Amino acid sequence: MSWIAVCDVSQVQEDFPFSAKVNDNEIGIFLVDEQYYALEDICPHAYALLSQGFVEDGKVECPLHEAIFDIKTGKCLREPGSRDLKIYPTRINENRIEISFIEE
Ligand code: FES
Repeated sequence: MSWIAVCDVSQVQEDFPFSAKVNDNEIGIFLVDEQYYALEDICPHAYALLSQGFVEDGKVECPLHEAIFDIKTGKCLREPGSRDLKIYPTRINENRIEISFIEE
């Protein structure tokens, strides 16, 4: 499995996910219960960055039409999200958050 460094751990807070473009993919890095999660950042319904949405209790609400997704699983919890989000493996390497593009 190959890993790609995305950001520093200090750049991600529970209320402020980190948005990055990695290999032409928009990725959102979220922090929930002291664990980092990497999700596709573009809402499947239309075009909005979920990392700019409202984060609460391990869920993110799309800023455009208020679909809700579970950050730990990517599961769509409220329409119009239309499908679950892709989620990518993460690891910490010397304070850098790395992701792999093999989907979980
Ligand atoms: S763009 Fe996210 S719910 Fe419509």
